[in-house]
Amino acid sequence: MEYVITTKRLGLRNWKPSDEQPFIEMGMDPEVMRYFPGLASAEETKALIGRLKTHYDEFGYTYFAVDRLDTHEFIGFTGLLNQDWESEFTPCVDMGWRLKRSAWGQGYATEAAKAAMEAGFTDFKLDEIFAFAAKGNVASEQVMKKLGMTYQGNFVHPRIKDDPRFPYCFAYKKLSTD
Ligand SMILES: CC(C)(COP(=O)(O)OP(=O)(O)OC[C@H]1O[C@@H](n2cnc3c(N)ncnc32)[C@H](O)[C@@H]1OP(=O)(O)O)[C@@H](O)C(=O)NCCC(=O)NCCS
Repeated sequence: MEYVITTKRLGLRNWKPSDEQPFIEMGMDPEVMRYFPGLASAEETKALIGRLKTHYDEFGYTYFAVDRLDTHEFIGFTGLLNQDWESEFTPCVDMGWRLKRSAWGQGYATEAAKAAMEAGFTDFKLDEIFAFAAKGNVASEQVMKKLGMTYQGNFVHPRIKDDPRFPYCFAYKKLSTD
């Protein structure tokens, strides 16, 4: 399948059927899902893939499936998505990243996100891009900082507000003019 975005080591693309099984496995890994309300069931992951594909068809961007270019191994997702859940920061476009554990700690999330962010500003003419994560998700916050995003504040995410582990989320933002 054609890549929408490539970096030195990674290819970002629309979703394909062979992503389903490894993505389901990621959603059932408690370490990967530590900062989410719970594990994702197979049905939830399939529904998410459907939503991400529809978003790609409509807008040209999505949380893209990410492959290593050397092995063509699917390692997770990174990309841009329109968000409309209720908060002081939405509606907006945010960046998301979720990789399988074996791919962590090698700079892949930052590399993919940097390229997706550039495409967001240049190709998709976005004025600003947000990123959000639950309290304590230091790895995700570190990616935001390495992308040159700046801290905007904390907020209560409506989808996880009843989970005492996540009393708040934090928001970062980058402007096209930054
Ligand atoms: C967040 C995630 C995508 C990062 O992927 P990654 O490819 O390992 O990220 P990078 O290697 O580009 O950068 C991670 C940075 O966080 C740092 N880091 C990782 N874990 C950390 C921890 N527990 N405490 C402090 N820093 C940490 C790394 O050292 C690195 O920073 P550095 O380059 O300055 O050393 C990955 O951890 C993941 O998939 N987590 C589970 C899903 C998730 O929580 N997604 C985000 C939801 S908002």
